[in-house]
Amino acid sequence: MAGTEVLWLNGDFVAPGEAMVSVDDRGFLFGDGIYEVIGGVGERLFAFDRHWRRLRRSVEQLDIVGVDFDQIEATIREAVRRAQCELTVVYLQITRGAAPRSHAWDPTGLTPTVLIRVREEPQPDPAQAEQGVACLTVPDLRWGRCDIKSLNLLPNVMAKQQARTSGCYEAIFVGADGIVTEGSSSSLAIVSGGELWSHPNGPRILPGVTRELSTILAADLGLTLHERQFDRATMLAADEVILMATSFDILGVTSIDGQTIGTGRPGDVARRLAERFRRAFYGGEF
Ligand code: PDD
Repeated sequence: MAGTEVLWLNGDFVAPGEAMVSVDDRGFLFGDGIYEVIGGVGERLFAFDRHWRRLRRSVEQLDIVGVDFDQIEATIREAVRRAQCELTVVYLQITRGAAPRSHAWDPTGLTPTVLIRVREEPQPDPAQAEQGVACLTVPDLRWGRCDIKSLNLLPNVMAKQQARTSGCYEAIFVGADGIVTEGSSSSLAIVSGGELWSHPNGPRILPGVTRELSTILAADLGLTLHERQFDRATMLAADEVILMATSFDILGVTSIDGQTIGTGRPGDVARRLAERFRRAFYGGEF
């Protein structure tokens, strides 16, 4: 049975239709905040510690002060208990707070706005995993700190929309220097010459939790994930292209910009990694 949606805003559990934030909220005015998306099975959240570390780092990097992490963690646990989902997804958003619009902020005068939303994650589509997905490439127009999970997602949402209107599942960012970075809401790896490659962690990509766990799980399959840069031509010539994200785990890419990848079906590595990942997810390994 599907769970109920549970929402908590600034200290109180509220009915989802009744939650209100100020028009002065800097998240609304400037996208001045950060977020996290955590999946799980029932009350057991997957890779919580890794998401938590990334969240804390995002908050610190943006100099957002006054966040009560202990209260937020306890509330997430309580919200997950109340929601009683089969497949759980937690959306957590923290903004710098509300103040009359001014680019600079008063470091002492703001209380962060905290939103926790828990709901049922739709069951994964087996056809998608079986058949793989089509992608397109787009210029990476994002800022120089993509390692922060900030609310500023305009290039990402524009890219995703372009993918969807073109009948594609995901947009893959390619930098001005020709280097492939990641998907608009996913990490990316390729299989080339029997090796797994993914863009090195750093300011050009989000340090994806699914990608980090894939590095560990790939080792179980006798594979090493190498952090290394590659360009669009290398990606198009790869044996496999693989997307990784909390929302869908691991997916094989079967075409990019209309060109077939590998055999045109999800490859062996994508399939094995996805299977190993599912086992870890449902078995609560992380
Ligand atoms: N997005 N890269 C980008 C730009 C992302 O937005 C995401 C996740 C990832 C994968 O990270 P993780 O494995 O930790 O979910 C990589 C989330 C799901 C979102 O924006 O909804």
